[in-house]
Amino acid sequence: MIEFIGVSKAFPEGNHAVENINLKIEDGEFVFIVGPSGAGKSTMLKLIMREEVPSSGKVIVNGRDLTKMKRRQVPYLRRTMGIVFQDFRLIDKMTVFENVAFAMRVIGAKQSEIKKRVMAVLDLVGLEEMASRHPSELSGGEQQRVSLARALVNKPSLIIADEPTGNIDPKRSYEIMKILKEINKMGTTVLVVTHEHTLVNQIPGRVIVLKDGEIVKDTAQEYYAQREKEERKSQAEISRFEESADTQQENIGADEEINGSEENEN
Ligand SMILES: Nc1ncnc2c1ncn2[C@@H]1O[C@H](COP(=O)(O)OP(=O)(O)O)[C@@H](O)[C@H]1O
Ligand SMILES: [Mg+2]
Repeated sequence: MIEFIGVSKAFPEGNHAVENINLKIEDGEFVFIVGPSGAGKSTMLKLIMREEVPSSGKVIVNGRDLTKMKRRQVPYLRRTMGIVFQDFRLIDKMTVFENVAFAMRVIGAKQSEIKKRVMAVLDLVGLEEMASRHPSELSGGEQQRVSLARALVNKPSLIIADEPTGNIDPKRSYEIMKILKEINKMGTTVLVVTHEHTLVNQIPGRVIVLKDGEIVKDTAQEYYAQREKEERKSQAEISRFEESADTQQENIGADEEINGSEENEN
């Protein structure tokens, strides 16, 4: 879980990037962060990654207060997160495979495990056939999918993507979002900053709108209401199924009785 408690961040020049943010994001949520340029979206993500520390207030990630976290503990925090950058940040000297594998080598994974896992994530993003190419031989959308694969390879519990579709066309953007949604369905929390309203409307998720460093809208209430409604609906379906199973059971019982009485008569 991610929690912001009265978080403000001011930079030395005096401008407030975010101001008095109060927010809770539960495990497994899919959250869009939207808002005009300069609204504080990137700052919010940087506070979660502990690339920035708040001027006041607390940021808590999985029960840990990041404002009290020692610098040497930060790499361990980052390992629980997969980060997707707008500018991809791929290394062109390396193949696609190596770009992704690198993230696993850093944490000392075994060679056999690396091979299996890298191919599995490349498959997930639809790039298994591009494994031996170099980033410069790929389209923008494909490069972004490599950076997504790299973010996923260590099975993070949280994916953070800052305008991951900023440099690619709408069709490819939609594909990236769909992959993020798939990953979310498997249980990973996803936080994605985007300025593409069509995507936000096409893909279901919680939407947080930032403006001048403040949250001006958060669909969390609607989101939870919707989730509750879905849970009630599936609960109702289960009950209906159980009832119909009971009725069938009773009918079978009744048939047996009829048969039984017929047998007695014979
Ligand atoms: N390192 C920094 N130093 C000074 N000001 C910054 C810094 N980072 C961000 N800001 C300012 O904070 C505000 C919010 O920035 P940012 O979080 O990057 O917005 P967004 O991602 O929504 O475009 C902007 O006014 C920006 O100029
Ligand atoms: Mg930004």
